[in-house]
Amino acid sequence: MTIRAVVRGVGHYLPARVVPNSEFEASLDTTDEWIRSRSGIERRHFAADDETTATMATEAARAALDDAGLGADALDAIVLATSTPDLTFPATATIVQARLGMTRGFAYDVQAVCAGFVFAMANAQAMIVAGQARRVLVIGAETFSRIMDWSDRSTCVLFGDGAGAVIVEGQEGAGATADRGVLSVDLHSDGRHREALYVDGGVATNQRAGHLRMQGKEVFRHAIEKLAATADTALDRAGLGADDIDWLVPHQANLRIINGTAHRLGIGMERVIVTVQDHGNTSAASIPLALSVGYAAGRIRRGDLLVLEAIGGGLAWGALVLRW
Ligand code: UT7
Repeated sequence: MTIRAVVRGVGHYLPARVVPNSEFEASLDTTDEWIRSRSGIERRHFAADDETTATMATEAARAALDDAGLGADALDAIVLATSTPDLTFPATATIVQARLGMTRGFAYDVQAVCAGFVFAMANAQAMIVAGQARRVLVIGAETFSRIMDWSDRSTCVLFGDGAGAVIVEGQEGAGATADRGVLSVDLHSDGRHREALYVDGGVATNQRAGHLRMQGKEVFRHAIEKLAATADTALDRAGLGADDIDWLVPHQANLRIINGTAHRLGIGMERVIVTVQDHGNTSAASIPLALSVGYAAGRIRRGDLLVLEAIGGGLAWGALVLRW
């Protein structure tokens, strides 16, 4: 028998304000046509002034708890992936813990930028296998609108805000590829590529929140090269191949990257969950948002084989094979 982290519930939250590409045409030298054709993005959600990463994460968590039919005290741990925490400390996860009324267990944040949700799920799986927790709420939540340089057209049109959450629970499987739950994980980072994507502020450097800086072409090149490779490695580790995949659930940064990765893996776009047109790039929130939207639409079903993959600042990247 093998214990695995099995998804028990999923949910998401998107702020009410939807911003179409055309809204940027008034303030920037850009067009809806450029944004759509270069990235696939058509609109994104931006948080209201009184919304934060913690408020959105809490809403997504409540939706996931409802879906699982559980109360917050049934959780042993919260792992929240974010690069846009409410405060330098405490961890945003502890703010969510208090808002949910969870009075036991532990909560902490994980920071792997756009790959954060894959890292957080890997962390939850490891804790469940080690017997440190049985039920873990894994959240990806971001307020990237707060770290945009609104004068930089090459970045500010690409990102959005939102939160997605899943609840995973340790369940015994036969140790076979037909088991539900996390079947394999592949994680990487390479700090030599820091300049490709970073925020130019921080507590220990200049005491500012800073703004996102990105060499788009450079990140694009790494993404195309690394995402299919990490997905292949994770599939290999699970003893599965691309033909076994029901759904590729990629990080939603750019439709051209998603197409390129699916093509390299030999997967048709009818087997890919795509939300980038509606959400923009929501960093660590993008995969759980795609999972929740795909599940709510009746596309992702119990027993389906999913591959999650993401790359972002660090660079950090990875993939995870999950039977829903
Ligand atoms: O989530 C973390 C991972 N992040 C990513 O995966 C992002 C990866 N990179 C990308 O998605 C793409 O590189 C971008 C969408 C950021 C850019 O697409 P691109 O095809 O690589 O365009 P580019 O950066 O080469 O820019 C082409 C041209 C440039 O003009 P010149 O130098 O050729 O005259 C840019 O100045 O497009 C210009 N440009 C714009 N034009 C209109 C850049 N941003 C804009 C804009 N509107 N918003």
